[in-house]
Amino acid sequence: MKNKNFLLVDHPLIKKDVSIIRDKNTNPEFFRAAVKRISIILAAEICKKLDLIEYDVETPLEITKGHKLNQDIVLVPVLRAGLGMVSGFLEIIPDAKVGHIGLKRNEETLRPVEYYYKTPKDLEKSKVILIDPMLATGGSASEAIRFLKNRGGIDCVFACLVASPQGVSKIEADHGDIKIFCASLDRELNEKGYIVPGLGDAGDRTFGTL
Ligand code: PRP
Ligand code: URA
Repeated sequence: MKNKNFLLVDHPLIKKDVSIIRDKNTNPEFFRAAVKRISIILAAEICKKLDLIEYDVETPLEITKGHKLNQDIVLVPVLRAGLGMVSGFLEIIPDAKVGHIGLKRNEETLRPVEYYYKTPKDLEKSKVILIDPMLATGGSASEAIRFLKNRGGIDCVFACLVASPQGVSKIEADHGDIKIFCASLDRELNEKGYIVPGLGDAGDRTFGTL
């Protein structure tokens, strides 16, 4: 896909784990574990370009140059399914703050409906990572990005597991400044707005509510 803001994170372990979460016979326990492993690799890729500041570290032998992050990191999972990716991100960014956006896709109109919003103060000074496993029509992610921008989230990226070409195009059209980090770009959306081949309903598969 030709889109300068879309990054398919190409990694053998991601390919293996995406196959596990696609499999309809994978139970929620194994589904969550695979989502966590993929999320760790996505988080590492997103964090590659973070700004650092130097400081002095005293080793047992001498003082040397150390580094720390120059910005707070704020993870913002979209409820519910985004919650499944948070533990992987926190595994390697343990001091990240976590906000939440509650959006439910109306399965008839496919439009997202907001039911919850809470993010930390000082969003404008933070690196914000919006997290949702599925980028289908793109309506939910686009709306969530709009909320974040309205509350000051100017330095924001989006992390997902599976995207459709339509979803990627919608984010590009609505928010041309937002980078998307994705584990798999799938073929299309079906008539019900599900990603194909996809993995089904990510929230239900994460929480066993099928
Ligand atoms: C899923 C998914 C996204 C949304 C994607 O959530 O986690 O938030 O659908 O679809 P879209 O790109 O067409 O907007 P869902 O509405 O099923 O809610 P849930 O996480 O509570 O199951
Ligand atoms: N939401 C999901 O959970 N899965 C899809 O395929 C599309 C939207």
